Amino acid sequence: MSSNLPHVPDSAEAGEGTPAPAAVVVLAAGEGTRMKSATPKVLHEICGRSLLGHVLAAARELEPEQVVVVVGHAREQVAAHCAEVDPAARTAVQHEQRGTGHAVRIALEELGGAAREPVASAAVPPVDGTVVVVCGDTPLLTGETLRQLSAAHAADGNAVTVLTAQVPDATGYGRIVRDEATGAVTAIVEHKDATDVQRAIREINSGVFAFDGRLLAEALGQVRTDNSQGEEYLTDVLGILRAAGHRVGAALADDHREIAGINNRVQLAEARGILNDRLLERAMLAGVTVVDPASTWVDVGVTFGRDAVVQPGTQLLGSTHLAEGCEVGPHSRLRDTLVGAGARVEFAVADAAEVGAGASVGPYAYLRPGTRLGPKSKAGTYVEMKNASVGEGTKVPHLSYVGDATIGEYTNIGAASVFVNYDGQEKHHTTVGSHCRTGSDNMFVAPVTVGDGAYTAAGSVITKDVPPGSLAVARGQQRNIAGWVARKRPGSAAAKAAEAAEEAAAAEASGEVSGGSDDGD
Ligand code: UD1
Ligand code: MG
Repeated sequence: MSSNLPHVPDSAEAGEGTPAPAAVVVLAAGEGTRMKSATPKVLHEICGRSLLGHVLAAARELEPEQVVVVVGHAREQVAAHCAEVDPAARTAVQHEQRGTGHAVRIALEELGGAAREPVASAAVPPVDGTVVVVCGDTPLLTGETLRQLSAAHAADGNAVTVLTAQVPDATGYGRIVRDEATGAVTAIVEHKDATDVQRAIREINSGVFAFDGRLLAEALGQVRTDNSQGEEYLTDVLGILRAAGHRVGAALADDHREIAGINNRVQLAEARGILNDRLLERAMLAGVTVVDPASTWVDVGVTFGRDAVVQPGTQLLGSTHLAEGCEVGPHSRLRDTLVGAGARVEFAVADAAEVGAGASVGPYAYLRPGTRLGPKSKAGTYVEMKNASVGEGTKVPHLSYVGDATIGEYTNIGAASVFVNYDGQEKHHTTVGSHCRTGSDNMFVAPVTVGDGAYTAAGSVITKDVPPGSLAVARGQQRNIAGWVARKRPGSAAAKAAEAAEEAAAAEASGEVSGGSDDGD
């Protein structure tokens, strides 16, 4: 393709055979004041990943030899985050934000330092190969677009190729100035420095570039600060290289929304919506039913099997996986949770839990970390579980807390049971065997073990181990004090009701005597 071809090539043409860049430089030193936040802008999250994390993930798709993140504002926090999400990325510190050109210069110095080449102090150390520059606040930028930019840059043999976009409102952006006759890019003019005619241009600089690393270093040495912001503009490199007779190109992104930078919380929410739509569309095209995309939120790390169904009002977060044919929602929030094939989860909150194939959760269940529900098991209505392993076919149907427990297979836990795991200082474990039937309203005071096939009586407080096959009864004996209401609450509604019931019983008894037959039928 020629250097000013207006469109980024299709993926079929792009990428193949393009050498991997020597480096990707991520600019992330700015403060992001308009976020009005204690958190540095690039660390704000959408769809389970920081803005910077999204950019780094896209950068990594180019398989560059080096990734350098330029940090400045809140640099310790941003650098620590980089080390966490992309340990191989390097950071370069820009102590004062003196412009995008200055930031890239600092990145090249970091790269040059790594090569341990002696470099004259004034010169910018050159890099052999392509250097791609991106901003840390453009989370919608895809690896695919970066590959296409890289491919266009290599194919045209450019000194620099800038990724551009046609935007409805170009306010604030650098404008792409083209030669009227040839259409060739001649310069990028910053909004603040632009004439009225230039401000009418709607093709803008996305802030993403591919550079020849040697020519970039040379040109950065010549960038001046005689502009309205008194900064070293990276965009000036383009004019400098062109003036020196080098090839300068532009690639127009298909979708201008992809290059949008985040400056405030409104744009953060918009970007989240766009990314969420993208993720849901991909899932739906892969065979997932999303009943209401507008009320369904997913993180980038979420994966699906075919024919999984997501009901409205559902958030799927972290590394959650929905296996084939399971159904989740409505109104559920699952984080880092595995839902097995054919399982059903409704009105539930789960965190780091595993739901076995064909199991049933909710409505109104809370599965906390370490919950492992076996196949075809059940955590029913108003059931909370934590660090609990529940065997195949075992049911905990109603109103119960199961914490720090192991339950075998095909056991039924009676309604309103509590696994009493905490003595006020330490947590203790309860084991219930297979094929047990525990009564309603039991307390299992841990540590305690109920053997296979055992039963427990309703209302029992189980403090001692129950041997296999035994019935444990651990509750007060019932005592009925006859006539207590008539004596203690005479004339009350209760006393009258009791009297009426006694009379009816007496009448029935006498009727039975008078109408009774003794013929043995
Ligand atoms: C920049 C471009 C503009 C482009 C726009 C796209 C320049 C001079 N202008 O303008 O042409 O249309 O991006 O969004 O490049 N940064 C640093 N150190 C600095 C200055 C900036 O790391 O000293 C980082 C910022 O954190 C940010 C990025 O570089 O991630 C862009 O800087 P910003 O101040 O947002 O530049 P714009 O004025 O938006
Ligand atoms: Mg900006």
